[in-house]
Amino acid sequence: MVAVVAMAKNRVIGDGSGLIWHLPADLKRVRALTMGCPLIMGRRTWDSIGRALPGRASVVMTRDSGWAAEGALRAADLDHALALSRDWIAATDGARDEIILFGGGEIYAAGLPLCARVEATVIEISPDGGPNAATFPPLEAAEWDREILEEMPAEGDVPAYRYERFTRIAPVTV
Ligand SMILES: NC(=O)c1ccc[n+]([C@@H]2O[C@H](COP(=O)([O-])OP(=O)(O)OC[C@H]3O[C@@H](n4cnc5c(N)ncnc54)[C@H](OP(=O)(O)O)[C@@H]3O)[C@@H](O)[C@H]2O)c1
Repeated sequence: MVAVVAMAKNRVIGDGSGLIWHLPADLKRVRALTMGCPLIMGRRTWDSIGRALPGRASVVMTRDSGWAAEGALRAADLDHALALSRDWIAATDGARDEIILFGGGEIYAAGLPLCARVEATVIEISPDGGPNAATFPPLEAAEWDREILEEMPAEGDVPAYRYERFTRIAPVTV
């Protein structure tokens, strides 16, 4: 499983109902990283997106057994989400053999131990995020190899940001 995340340098990823920044280039990158894959996300992240993303499965974790939304596969827990993701990959022509941990904060915390890689966009801001701020869990330096793939300087209203890849040193098997 691969976590895909955009986070501020203080690890804030959103205010609980949406993102706090607008980085069009990053949205394109996320599309490329996730196309053809199942996305495991929390119900609040699903609500913030509001629809299924094309070319991918939206596997939505919720404890509400009555929850349903068009285009979403409901998962009762992480094991169920992984099983639905594997089934979708097996049943879908052109699917990639990769499960994406798509957030938000609660789902990153639950699934990170099963991730072999993290594709992170790190934005050079430190927003407060408000009372419902969601964050990405810390990555222990001893457990991950860190590569900086690309660095973008600040330009106009867009803050500086960079793409980082973290690869787990001792691989996990999902
Ligand atoms: N920057 C990024 O890359 C990025 C990516 C994704 C999201 N976000 C942001 O993150 C924020 C949302 O994160 P969040 O932490 O507030 O919420 P979240 O992780 O998206 O969703 C939390 C919900 O997931 C369900 N859930 C959590 N753990 C579960 C479990 N073990 N089993 C079954 N269901 C479980 C519960 O849904 P029920 O309440 O329905 O039971 C819970 O309320 C938003 O601001 C969003 O924009 C940012």
